[in-house]
Amino acid sequence: MSDGRLFGHAPPKEPRERLIFALDVDHIDEAERLVKALAPHVGMFKVGPRLFTSAGSLVMDLIHGMGSSVFLDLKFHDIPVSVAGAAREVARLRTKMFTVHGMGGKKMIQAVLRELGQMTLIPGLPPPIVLGVTILTSHDQESVEAIGFDRPISELAMRIAKISVDGGAGGIVASGHEVTALKDALPEGTVFVVPGIRSAADEVQDQSRVMTARQAVEAGATYVVVGRPIRLAKDPAAAADRIVEDIAQANV
Ligand code: C5P
Repeated sequence: MSDGRLFGHAPPKEPRERLIFALDVDHIDEAERLVKALAPHVGMFKVGPRLFTSAGSLVMDLIHGMGSSVFLDLKFHDIPVSVAGAAREVARLRTKMFTVHGMGGKKMIQAVLRELGQMTLIPGLPPPIVLGVTILTSHDQESVEAIGFDRPISELAMRIAKISVDGGAGGIVASGHEVTALKDALPEGTVFVVPGIRSAADEVQDQSRVMTARQAVEAGATYVVVGRPIRLAKDPAAAADRIVEDIAQANV
């Protein structure tokens, strides 16, 4: 794939680099145990609002100290100047990728890209990849209609993805089932980050439309996000290795 929208980051080459582990814990001690066990087995760690609110830059230092990278999934959605300011701080934390709500609009995303473009960067450290979030999977048709959107969710997600990328986002967070259509509609090199990954043997938990890692990569995922199937496994490192082996089977 072209690295045009990776803003200078190398595209994942090894199957392991495609695996993002969702570090969905709320305490730094638990995060430390998992980061130490998993850093050699996964490509990146996803930090969400729970852990970031509780442990902030401590967890960033922990992950970077193990030689790994951070996907900061805080889903920013605010007026352009506020989100641009947050993006600056995210870049200062040496984040590899972070999320913004595409629903914040093209101007919001353009403001983020402008801010990142004006920063003096540490040599050799590219700016973070900006990922647009479309419609949360917790929405259904009824709940989007309650807001006043009368279009099918799939159409809304496509529109928001296009707005995000038009604004300069490097990629989109999408379900494995959306990726193929998005890939056809968005520029070459757009990064796709896909959660909702399960193997045939896994419990599905609250994820409804799941795919295996191999299927997601074959559908066009650049990265897959996996949380509970690794975190709740008896041996998390072995569970991560099995997913990497699955990715390695992908015909891409
Ligand atoms: O534990 P599990 O593998 O379901 O974790 C998936 C991760 O991906 C969680 O951190 C969750 O917030 C995130 N996610 C998701 N579905 C989306 C977007 C993000 O499960 N549509």
